[in-house]
Amino acid sequence: MTNDTGAIELAVIGGTGLYQLADLRDVETHQPVTRYGAPSGPVRVGLLDGHLVAFLARHGEGHSLPPHQINYRANLAALDALGARRVLALNTVGGITADFGPRVLGCPDQLIDYTWGRISTICEEPGTEVVHVDFGEPYTRSLRHAVIAAAAAAGVALVDGGCYGATQGPRLETRAEIARMRRDGCDLVGMTGMPEAGLAREMGLDYACLAIVANWAAGAGPDPDEVITLQDVLDNVAAASSGLPRLIASL
Ligand code: HPA
Repeated sequence: MTNDTGAIELAVIGGTGLYQLADLRDVETHQPVTRYGAPSGPVRVGLLDGHLVAFLARHGEGHSLPPHQINYRANLAALDALGARRVLALNTVGGITADFGPRVLGCPDQLIDYTWGRISTICEEPGTEVVHVDFGEPYTRSLRHAVIAAAAAAGVALVDGGCYGATQGPRLETRAEIARMRRDGCDLVGMTGMPEAGLAREMGLDYACLAIVANWAAGAGPDPDEVITLQDVLDNVAAASSGLPRLIASL
């Protein structure tokens, strides 16, 4: 199984409801163990439309890992070790502002980190060199632009820009928390955007987020009393994801 160069052109990290990449062919399975431990599960490497793509399910293929227990460092280090240089993170999110209703796809350009207690740097171990990476633009500009161009070429609607707020989970947010996040400037809310994006920058990987809006965040939709159910989340992710293989192949 190979493309022309044998190099992985893109690594995709799948979020809630996205445990495999449809249309991946001639799949080889890798079980890497990194200096940070084991990733969430196997890395599947295969051909998508002739391009070599790696896929890793962030929560594990059976969704066994809550957001705060994911070994984000091992996941990225595993993809890095396989030679991936570009990482597309698929993140299931709630929508806060008007452009981001259920089933919308977005490619945010900013983020705010509300998570706590997660290992958020590769400088954790005693003796490691301390790095202070620039993170003013948290997603790699060239990869974001490539994602937006790929969506356009594939005929997949995608909102360009927006601010992703990363919360601790696994519970969803209160209405007051979402109201505060809106005041802070967040458009989207999810539980896995950080520390992943920061670690990718520390490891020198290109990284962009493709956010899949599964629901209105608490109190953000037309019905302020709406209760968010897992079934709604999964149904909306499934519906919104139909164009993803096309978009990724185009990318
Ligand atoms: N909040 C946080 N994370 C999420 C949500 C939400 O409303 N929906 C899907 N992931």
